[in-house]
Amino acid sequence: MDKQTIIADEARYMMQTYRRADVVLERGEGVYLFDSDGRRYLDFMAGIAVAALGHADPAVTAAVAEQAATLTHVSNLFYTAPQVGLARRLVTHSFADRVFLTNSGAEAIEGALKFARKWARERGVGKHEIVAFGGSFHGRTMGALSITYKAAYRDPFAPLLPGVCFAPFNDLDAARAMITDDTCAVVVEPVQGEGGIHTATPEFLRGLRELCNQHEARLIFDEIQCGLGRTGRLWAHEAHGITPDIMTLAKPLANGLPIGAILLTEDVAAAVGYGEHGSTFAGGPVVCRAAEVVFDRVSDPAFLAAVAENGERLQRGLRDLNSPRVVEVRGAGLLVGVELDGPAAPVIAAARARGLLVINAGETILRIAPPLIVTREHVDEAVAILGECLS
Ligand SMILES: Cc1ncc(COP(=O)(O)O)c(C=O)c1O
Repeated sequence: MDKQTIIADEARYMMQTYRRADVVLERGEGVYLFDSDGRRYLDFMAGIAVAALGHADPAVTAAVAEQAATLTHVSNLFYTAPQVGLARRLVTHSFADRVFLTNSGAEAIEGALKFARKWARERGVGKHEIVAFGGSFHGRTMGALSITYKAAYRDPFAPLLPGVCFAPFNDLDAARAMITDDTCAVVVEPVQGEGGIHTATPEFLRGLRELCNQHEARLIFDEIQCGLGRTGRLWAHEAHGITPDIMTLAKPLANGLPIGAILLTEDVAAAVGYGEHGSTFAGGPVVCRAAEVVFDRVSDPAFLAAVAENGERLQRGLRDLNSPRVVEVRGAGLLVGVELDGPAAPVIAAARARGLLVINAGETILRIAPPLIVTREHVDEAVAILGECLS
């Protein structure tokens, strides 16, 4: 099908919820994508922080092809080795004792909220209040939307979950005023993605941990965007020396195949019994085989060190542009935000015209989240292109 037919058919047949760039992507290889006109793009958005190992990674492709040819789906009423293998890896390398697998980030958030509620109920307190934060993004399903900050996402679908309140991000005093004995869960992204690439301070996360202990609330870290190597550490919260009770993962876990995960302590896991939660497709053998390959590669200390190094190089390169249009460069590892003095959209379009894909996070912030396998040469090339767009 030619490009114009694809674009016309999308307009004719698909629900119009995505504002798309005028590009039909056909193929990917490593950090590059190729469109229907044969143009090559340096992909510094990786989906949206998804393709950690780049596109068409040979090991992921081989694992997926082999698994698909062997066993694609069975009900969760049976065991499969890839599912258990992935769970073992996640538990062995984290604070968690157990894992529940899902199909997406939002589904992981929904499960996390249910599990926190059930945990409270098992302790004889049916409390349900949730504290979330300004700038948060947790997904588009009803529960996830209820704890997502932006009114434009939430308001058209009200009424949402009762008992949710938002404290300003990184404001511990405000959080202290909102977290009470009626709080069931506190949900926070250690590095906010969609909200503009804001990193939680160590004092803030440590303070939330203490408040959750004090008020018997469960602390949920949403590492769907910032987790699994993106910050140069396996988990973003590792930088702060504290752990949550529940953590959600998704985006990069199977390098682009749909998957999510809820990691939790035994204490929380024990509150949810047989038949109280489930999902037909979640934890299927194909996605889990892909995720095993991703996890083994990303959890290698040398891989993580390279992410940290390239992230620093990227931030340094962007600062050294000395562009008057740049207000601030911030981020962690290969999740970088460039706050501009005006709208990000024209810069994104200019970069695309020069063969570089980046995305926004809010109106004025460029979000740069390349595959974690980028080399310093890729980083330098991206910085040079952005330099042209920001001059
Ligand atoms: C931090 C965070 N949480 C949750 C989600 C929702 O994930 P999904 O789009 O897979 O439902 C996202 C997606 O951007 C995210 O960045």
